[in-house]
Amino acid sequence: MLMTVNTINHPLPYSIPMKINGQHHRTIWPDDNDPTKIQIIDQRHLPHHLVIETLSSVQETAAAIRDMHVRGAGLIGSTAGFGMYLAAISSENGTIDEKLDRGGRLLCASRPTASNLAWAVKRIQKETAGVSREEEKKKMTFTVACAIADEDADYCRRLGEHGKELIRAISEQKGGAPVNILTHCNAGWLAFVDWGSATAPIYAARDAGIAVHVWVDETRPWNQGAKLTAWELQQEGIDNTLITDNAGGHLMQKRLVDMVLVGTDRTTRSGDVANKIGTYLKALAAKDNNIPFYVALPSSTFDWALRDGMKIPIEERSGEEITQVSGLGLNGQIETVQLTAPGTAAANYSFDITPARLVSGLITERGICNANEEAITALFPDLADR
Ligand code: MRU
Repeated sequence: MLMTVNTINHPLPYSIPMKINGQHHRTIWPDDNDPTKIQIIDQRHLPHHLVIETLSSVQETAAAIRDMHVRGAGLIGSTAGFGMYLAAISSENGTIDEKLDRGGRLLCASRPTASNLAWAVKRIQKETAGVSREEEKKKMTFTVACAIADEDADYCRRLGEHGKELIRAISEQKGGAPVNILTHCNAGWLAFVDWGSATAPIYAARDAGIAVHVWVDETRPWNQGAKLTAWELQQEGIDNTLITDNAGGHLMQKRLVDMVLVGTDRTTRSGDVANKIGTYLKALAAKDNNIPFYVALPSSTFDWALRDGMKIPIEERSGEEITQVSGLGLNGQIETVQLTAPGTAAANYSFDITPARLVSGLITERGICNANEEAITALFPDLADR
């Protein structure tokens, strides 16, 4: 159900991150007036309209993930956590464990690549496993879902503090001239609960008085960069320039990029990185031009069971996302138009794998480490050994 539609005025320069129209927003939150409902920003309408959607069931939650009302690894995980809560309190037949089991399977089938989804489902099941009384178990699913969301925001804020130091070092080498950061897709606060992963170091640098400029890849075909990242940075008053997906290599050759900073949907214990399609090509160009390529992630995005990135399932979405384009029509409504001749065949691979050897480092809530198994497991011995 769509609850609120506000037209967003541009531009809105704010000094404190994660605000829309001067008001702090998370991307997901329990409804203040009805604890059996969860609210999200429906991102399909951004940057033109702020639409708040209310989720009332695990089925609606799975559809919101699948159809990308919410997207981005951290937010998908948090949404799945709240979806498990909605499954637990549903009036469907069966015990609460059966409902959690069914709900978990439904949620996990909604999008395959981001590891945060299955991680959140498993965490709810594990942390509620010892609770036998049904009412208590329902409350516990809510508590754990809220903890997942709070932790996501906190980890992103913390990794931002670590990543800021990389930007500071480049800024010092450049005598304080703006640091040019290239990013792909949206690994901003809209991809998490708050702060974002790739954007958190940028916000922290800005707060520390370090001058930054961001090159934003438009990120075909869903255009997360054009629609979300450019808008998000604009809201924060961060200097940014939208570029086509193919421009990055040229800018690197011209020494107009100081660093590439991206997020990830799943990173293996050996440091192979799954991220939005096209990330691999940016990593290759960065390597060829000797430009640092960093990946920012909270620990919930590691897949501790996998070493080989080529085994990560890659989502394939409808070809219509390529053959059609949507944007704001002259009537003020979101419109979709046909780009290609009818019947054009299109293959829509949503993610690719950047091998660890192309990654300069991983920025996490515990610090920055090299993209290899030894360094990653040394930073997270408690998680890696489970
Ligand atoms: O398809 P999406 O929008 O859910 O994919 C998200 C990404 O790939 C982001 O770029 C991001 O880096 C990973 S989510 C933090």
